[in-house]
Amino acid sequence: MKKIQAITAVFLFVAISGWSQNVTEGINIDSLLNEMSLIEKIGQLTLITSDWDITGPSLSNDYKELIKAGKAGAVFNAYTVDFVRELQKTAVEETRLKIPLLFGYDVIHGHRTIFPIPLGQAASWNLDLIRRSESVAASEATAEGINWIFAPMVDISRDPRWGRVSEGGGEDTWLTSKIGATRVNGFQGEDLSSNSTALACVKHFAAYGAPEAGREYNTVDISTTSLFESYLPPYKAGIDAGTGSVMTSFNEINGQPSTSNKWLLTDLLRDQWDFKGFVVSDYTSINELVNHGVAEDEKSAALLSLNAGVDMDMQGRAFLNNLEMLIAGDKISMQQIDQAVRRILIAKAKLGLFDDPYRYCNKKREKTAIMTKDNRILARKLVRESCVLLKNENNTLPIPDNVKSIAIIGPLGDSKKDMLGNWIAAGEWDKCITLKEGMVNRAGDLIKVTYNRGCGIDDANTSGFEEALKAARNADMVILALGEAGEMSGEAASRTNIDLPGVQNQLATMVMEAGKPTVAVLFNGRPLAISQLQASVPAILETWFGGTEAGNGIADVLFGDYNPAGKLTMTFPQNLGQVPIYYNHKNTGRPLDPERPDFKYLSKYIDSPNDPLYPFGYGLSYTTFKYDDLSANVEGGQIQISVNVANTGNRDGEEVVQLYVQDKIGSITRPVKELKGFQKLMIKKGESKTVQFTLTKDDLAFYHPDLTKSFEPGEFVVYVGGNSVETIQKLVLFD
Ligand code: GLC
Repeated sequence: MKKIQAITAVFLFVAISGWSQNVTEGINIDSLLNEMSLIEKIGQLTLITSDWDITGPSLSNDYKELIKAGKAGAVFNAYTVDFVRELQKTAVEETRLKIPLLFGYDVIHGHRTIFPIPLGQAASWNLDLIRRSESVAASEATAEGINWIFAPMVDISRDPRWGRVSEGGGEDTWLTSKIGATRVNGFQGEDLSSNSTALACVKHFAAYGAPEAGREYNTVDISTTSLFESYLPPYKAGIDAGTGSVMTSFNEINGQPSTSNKWLLTDLLRDQWDFKGFVVSDYTSINELVNHGVAEDEKSAALLSLNAGVDMDMQGRAFLNNLEMLIAGDKISMQQIDQAVRRILIAKAKLGLFDDPYRYCNKKREKTAIMTKDNRILARKLVRESCVLLKNENNTLPIPDNVKSIAIIGPLGDSKKDMLGNWIAAGEWDKCITLKEGMVNRAGDLIKVTYNRGCGIDDANTSGFEEALKAARNADMVILALGEAGEMSGEAASRTNIDLPGVQNQLATMVMEAGKPTVAVLFNGRPLAISQLQASVPAILETWFGGTEAGNGIADVLFGDYNPAGKLTMTFPQNLGQVPIYYNHKNTGRPLDPERPDFKYLSKYIDSPNDPLYPFGYGLSYTTFKYDDLSANVEGGQIQISVNVANTGNRDGEEVVQLYVQDKIGSITRPVKELKGFQKLMIKKGESKTVQFTLTKDDLAFYHPDLTKSFEPGEFVVYVGGNSVETIQKLVLFD
């Protein structure tokens, strides 16, 4: 026994040292590689979907045969212990070398217990809560056999027409980088070989969030400086956090698709960033190089992507169909194949799959780790903290104690199907709490709650209006439940119109005729152009798609059991014509001049203001906060910042204190503001707190056109406030 322990200790010691070891848990990678045939090696580079879920344009109904033939090294969209065990058994008991499979899944915001969509979670500005939600997501996913999670998505986007903004952290590079690293840590935990943590997959590398016209899968053509300054940092943050894999993006960047982009996948990702994990293509993105027009056929697509640095082919079978021929034709080397196989085998070893291929097939965990009371409590907490109070005239909210009847009106008021949003993994609609259910749960017998759909989500039928108006007239207060269907955002869901769909604006205007205190609760996966709604109702609460505990968490906010503190991480435009619109824009040579608003020759529109409806970082509270005593001084080679934040209202509340900086003069143009820090803290009513930040020269360094990153001394404006617009400022010279 002592000898086995000694050997294991050696393997474990070596394993801890990092991704690039040949020997790791229970396996000698090089020995295994030497035993593998070419087709067995190519099998490890092949990822196929089961037929349990559809997440792309092609399907595979022969996945079991491929596994049995050793021609698949990983499966996605397959879960539950029984199904995973069945497929893993085929791999480890019926193939020659018994190499275990990876099981991947899009656990984007929870597995069974569904949390708010990532754009909503980001609005909580609570990194620890986000990490805990991903830890629960990994715990539940691994309890059902998953050991590889296709997340976090960290694509920066400034265009709400693009449906996948719902999956990311919003428009800010610095914040999305923090969130991306947090999510990797949540999934992978401290010990990847634990059976409750999973391999992360940072995606989509790179700049998928900048498609022209916000049209899904469209061309991305941005400057290299902008690529490095605005789009790449979140991927780097995920890699520095130790992600085990990276997924390529569908788009091209400056003319070269990511999946065949050697500069991106090898020169940058491997050579500069020292990424040691493996790279997986996106869904048939290798095959799609033919459509992009950089490959004449599947064979050349396979050649291009392997040479670029792709290790695993998702669903396209381009590697399976062509790598043998490419080897035979001396187009690629066995060393290239071995390098890709090694990376994947190391990942499997890190997960402990060679020690125990069935470690994620634990029936007891499947029964006890999923949809637990604690998981739902955490989900409800994240729903509360994701909610953003956009408007609250006359203190319409929280619901006053004297309200004895509430009419919920609108197509999202009792829709289980939509509460989960998109990318809902193994989420179960029937187990989620709708707004109506949450309100009834909270109201109990004290308040009568009625529900009228009023209209559809996206149709022209107004036949329900009269009934809805009647319900409004018969209630003390009205809660409008408006927004998008869950599937109107996410992948392949770009919209050319980001207004409230259908006749929902008309429903809101009509209901206001009842003259009752009215709140609009929004359910959406992207910023919407809600100027008309904003003009017609006194209160608006943004709730995104809150997931399993949506209704309960929203009721906590509406009734004031929780004082909302959420802040937008993506700008809400006044109208679509302003898009792309984002807070960290450049000043231009003819910026708007508040002293002469009507002067013609300025950067503006003749038919719309420049300002957004709601800016980045914006969100109200049931209390109010006052910022003063801002100081910013250079001490010890850093800028030391201090500000006093007072709770000037009549109830305790959390505030997200945000720090922005402007580099006044640079060798290239610089944004008018950039988020460089935040602190979310509770301040009791009548009290105040001093909040401190430190800025270093590294914090203020930026990429130059020659792609060097450096700090430039000079004047900086330090802004602090509760959003990106309402700030107090100090000028500081930082040499
Ligand atoms: C999809 C998505 C990607 C997802 C993959 C597997 O096309 O682009 O985010 O992880 O396919 O479902």
